Amino acid sequence: MSTFKINLHETIFFLSDALNLVAGNQIDHGKRVAFMVAECALALKWDRKRIDDLFLAAILHDCGVSKTAVYERLVNFEGKNAGNHCSRGEKLLKASPPLAYLSDCILHHHVDWVDLKGIDLPDKVKMGANCIYLLDRVDLLALDYLRIDSNILASKEHIRKKIFEKRDTWFHPQLVDTFLEISKPEAFWLALEKGHNSGYARSWIEHDLMSEIDFIDLKSIVMIYSRIVDEKSYFTKQHSEGVGCLSRYLGELMGLSEHICDKLEIAGLLHDLGKLRVPDHILDKPDRLTESELLVMQRHSYDTYDIIKDIKGFEEISVWASQHHERNDGSGYPYRCSKEDLSLEARIIALADVFQSLAQNRPHREKLKPEEILSMLKKQGNKGKLDKDVILMVEKNLAGCWQAAKPVGC
Ligand SMILES: [Fe+2]
Ligand SMILES: [Fe+2]
Ligand SMILES: [Fe+2]
Repeated sequence: MSTFKINLHETIFFLSDALNLVAGNQIDHGKRVAFMVAECALALKWDRKRIDDLFLAAILHDCGVSKTAVYERLVNFEGKNAGNHCSRGEKLLKASPPLAYLSDCILHHHVDWVDLKGIDLPDKVKMGANCIYLLDRVDLLALDYLRIDSNILASKEHIRKKIFEKRDTWFHPQLVDTFLEISKPEAFWLALEKGHNSGYARSWIEHDLMSEIDFIDLKSIVMIYSRIVDEKSYFTKQHSEGVGCLSRYLGELMGLSEHICDKLEIAGLLHDLGKLRVPDHILDKPDRLTESELLVMQRHSYDTYDIIKDIKGFEEISVWASQHHERNDGSGYPYRCSKEDLSLEARIIALADVFQSLAQNRPHREKLKPEEILSMLKKQGNKGKLDKDVILMVEKNLAGCWQAAKPVGC
């Protein structure tokens, strides 16, 4: 396995744009909470490492939410039905060695202080989790005022009062007092309108330099996001994982280098990231999509590009991932590329995507057997859509491709 040179903070910051898409009208919720958490921690004079870690946890705090419907439950201030998104988030982070140390904080980010203080956890974790909880509630109260036709300053006193009422019950008194202090200036509230790029974010990214990371560690981080995408719909369980694995397998068969195969796997894992923007009811619709629903669906590969394009070290990955619906005859989307514009890697991912999808049930059809998939792929090859060289490789290694596509879950 090869190594990658990336800025870990930058990578997670941009990938987390995908989490914001799930939130529908709560775009940038995670990043606004991270901004406020950092303001609070700076006022408390916590050390830089502690603030950096908390900022990271705040960006990721709702990573256990895949479905828009779950978010809708979370926006009730007094509501106590957080569902299982805290334990799902904990599980996702635990599976990634570089981020596992944040999992306790994520697990407890909806626990009231009265209960949290009795739990056997380091004080730093309890304070961090409670700080995220407090500012998560602030953000949802502020949401109504972040619309273009509203004025965020009109929310200030109402929110400060609501938070004060929960002092020593929901939230640690010191955190409430600090919040009340930092939220006095209008600038605190106005910055929320640009929560994703104001305050601590830039210096947090700059605190982390470009450094080497093993493919295995990078893959474990990327899989946090691919699992969120795959779990958005019952039908797509492990789809991205299967596309990543099959793309790698085909790349190896076609003689590509180990580093390119690592990149292919990452691109396969991320290819459908933009689907987080597609509402649940469209993804799960049992009938054919209408014209307008199709238009919503068709923007997802461009949205994938938009999320990962600025990550240094992901330049090729973002292009290959975003071209997975392109076709050799120019009939694909969103760039309408033809074969000459498409790299072998992009053509591999496009085929792996079709193969893996056909191996799973979809709302409007049953899954196909390996031989049926091959015959569908050949038809697409004869029409000039999918790449014939890649199809030939599938034909010679059908059982291996089937295994790599991991057609489980449906
Ligand atoms: Fe949450
Ligand atoms: Fe797709
Ligand atoms: Fe896909």
